[in-house]
Amino acid sequence: MFISRIQRPAALALVAMAGWFGLIPGASSAQLHKSGKAVVEEVCIKCHGPGTDGAPRIGNRADWTPRAKDGLPRLLRSSMDGYRKMPAHGGQPGLTDLEMTRAVAYMVSGGKTPDPVKTFDDVKHGTGEQIVARACGNCHREGANNAPKIGDGPAWRPRLEKGINELVLSAANGHNKMPARGGFTNLSDLDIRAAVSYMASKTSSGK
Ligand code: HEC
Ligand code: HEC
Repeated sequence: MFISRIQRPAALALVAMAGWFGLIPGASSAQLHKSGKAVVEEVCIKCHGPGTDGAPRIGNRADWTPRAKDGLPRLLRSSMDGYRKMPAHGGQPGLTDLEMTRAVAYMVSGGKTPDPVKTFDDVKHGTGEQIVARACGNCHREGANNAPKIGDGPAWRPRLEKGINELVLSAANGHNKMPARGGFTNLSDLDIRAAVSYMASKTSSGK
């Protein structure tokens, strides 16, 4: 009772701080995202240039028209989730949701559309609690390989100081023994954000 009373304000401050960092739009965060052209040339062109395994070719109207008829949000989802021989995130789980959006816009238009500043869709696969249960809890519950344990304030506090945006990027890219997107390469940035926020909110129950 005594402990929970003194911990509560600290925990609330932590969560508020996390939210605060996450909300700062920051000029720098726009620069964190590569252009559609850069992503396509680094990653997607390998298959979407030649049309490997039936990949729709960049800027080829006939290849893209039937796929685009249900809208660009659907194309974004399937390229993030993976679709038959198309690997989730083009096999590069570190790509952000916005980078995937830009790459799709670039490919469909053959580079004629300016880079979107917002994603075509908010791709989500569950709540923070669900994502943690499915994808993060295995390591973060017990602290496998020194993963910061859920509820462990001292382990999370210095990390949360980087701000949620940074943590989302580092969880998406992988970090030492932490695999990119926890090994679930279809998860979106919003899923990772929800999961990190959920784990941060549980920090209040630790010491
Ligand atoms: C290893 C090869 C490979 C790479 C790399 C790759 N793709 Fe694909 N992609 C495919 C194939 C094959 C298909 C066709 C899948 C099908 O319809 O059977 C496809 C289909 C797609 C589609 C259409 C999905 C639909 O619902 O019709 C989109 C959008 C797409 N890719 C986006 C991307 C983006 C963006 C990148 C780069 C970040 C990328 N791909 C990288 C192989 C690849
Ligand atoms: C296979 C085990 C494993 C899984 C699964 C896993 N993590 Fe981790 N995670 C780790 C380890 C180990 C570290 C500590 C890495 C370090 O300190 O560099 C870590 C660190 C982190 C950090 C701190 C990164 C930083 O920059 O300080 C975040 C945030 C994180 N994980 C989020 C997640 C999320 C979200 C998921 C689920 C989508 C997840 N992790 C799934 C093992 C895992």
